[in-house]
Amino acid sequence: MEFSIKSALPEKLKTGCIAVGVFESGKLSDAAKMLDVASNGHVSEILKGGDMEGRKGSALMLHRVAGITAQRVLLVGLGKENEFDEKAYVGAVEAAFNALKDTGAKDAAFYFTAVPVKGKEFEWNLHHAVLVVMEGLYRFDAMKSKPEERREALKKLFLYAPEGNGAEIALKQAAAIAESVEFAKDLGNLPGNVCTPSYLAEKALEIAKTYKLESRILEQKEMKALGMGALLSVTRGSHEPPKMILLEYHGGPKNKKPIVLVGKGITFDSGGISLKPGADMDEMKYDMSGAGSVLAAIRAAAEMKLRLNVVAIVPSCENMPGGAATKPGDIVTSMSGQTVEVLNTDAEGRLILCDALTYAEKYEPEAVIDVATLTGACVVALGHVASGLYSNDEQLASELLEAGKDSRDRAWQLPLWEDYQEQLKSNFADMANIGGRPAGSVTAACFLSKFTGNYRWAHLDVAGTAHRSGKHKGSTGRPVPLLCRFLIERSNA
Ligand code: BES
Ligand code: MN
Ligand code: ZN
Repeated sequence: MEFSIKSALPEKLKTGCIAVGVFESGKLSDAAKMLDVASNGHVSEILKGGDMEGRKGSALMLHRVAGITAQRVLLVGLGKENEFDEKAYVGAVEAAFNALKDTGAKDAAFYFTAVPVKGKEFEWNLHHAVLVVMEGLYRFDAMKSKPEERREALKKLFLYAPEGNGAEIALKQAAAIAESVEFAKDLGNLPGNVCTPSYLAEKALEIAKTYKLESRILEQKEMKALGMGALLSVTRGSHEPPKMILLEYHGGPKNKKPIVLVGKGITFDSGGISLKPGADMDEMKYDMSGAGSVLAAIRAAAEMKLRLNVVAIVPSCENMPGGAATKPGDIVTSMSGQTVEVLNTDAEGRLILCDALTYAEKYEPEAVIDVATLTGACVVALGHVASGLYSNDEQLASELLEAGKDSRDRAWQLPLWEDYQEQLKSNFADMANIGGRPAGSVTAACFLSKFTGNYRWAHLDVAGTAHRSGKHKGSTGRPVPLLCRFLIERSNA
């Protein structure tokens, strides 16, 4: 889909369809008013007839309206004017897209993007029109022998914006983010026998080539030399070689410290010797979603040419049972020198992350943000709505929360209080890798905090938000929008 800005008068626009907003009171938006005048009152006549009441999520397609150049006019219901908020706006974009997608219109123009949304700048409207439409267009059929044929004729979408403001930049950035969201979704949706650690490394090298990033892949031998005993304990049961993927984007001044993004890259989590139950185990192919999201975010940063330095670190391996696999009770030594008693081999994410987080020190980071499908407990706490956020720096935490709100990819902060550290005590090693049933997402974050004392750090637990289950099973691409918004704000600062 190609997106571009239009500022022409609505009645004069040559397009397959022009979409304008009407409110529930029967009040017309500015563009709808102009169409009404040009069509000699046709629009208000239709409202009077009761075929369109302006209700939220409703849409009515009109064909060949006299006095109007566009082939079709789509009336989009916006609900009550004083209640026109983010949710109502997104609902209107969805309704317009759904009404359009099965028509023969090759291009269309959304003019209701000009209707102000409570508390939002105009660029926000454009941005989310692009993201919502791209969400509607996404399909994953890479693994079907015969992909379903698509009816969709729509190739171009114009979005209304008054001339001469930040519209072009907003549009470009939104497109870059939407593409990166798709990149993350594709990686997540690929099965574990295709999306292996080696495959992730290959994809990372492709990004590096396209955007001229510095790249390096650490192999098992190098991990051994670096003393990454925690990471290596997870890969022991697998036949796939582990990879530690390193990408560097230099968009800022040389001496500027980088934002380091660390993503959990377990390409399949069987639980290991602490084997998971069988039901829905296939969904553990999504356990590399953190990795996908940080690769997507650095890709987007490079595509948007943000003026800052970003590093992506992806520790990647499988978690499998096997004769050589780590056993409950085994004690391993992490790169930091701290020892860990592995009481449950299914708490593997923190084991690969802790060594990546220690490795991150080498970049002298401005801040480190790790993203991981870390705990089922986080799903219990926050469901599929918000990602769990933890941080040792309140300023960083509030920036991430704000980025989540603005991008409609919300996070919610949970505590990292000292009181919880108690639960990680081990009789035999410096710490255990599990903290028992209570506050499982918190104790997982507490475990990570033992490796992040030397820099500003935040952790996003995306176990509940990175993919959907059931009928709509699939990757969501979260938290790519949150990360991208955070990086944009940092590069503007
Ligand atoms: N990858 C899982 C967490 C997960 C669960 C992600 C559900 C997405 C959906 C993680 O490695 C895991 O197995 N965590 C265990 C930790 C426990 C053993 C302390 C869990 O949450 O049960
Ligand atoms: Mn696990
Ligand atoms: Zn896992």
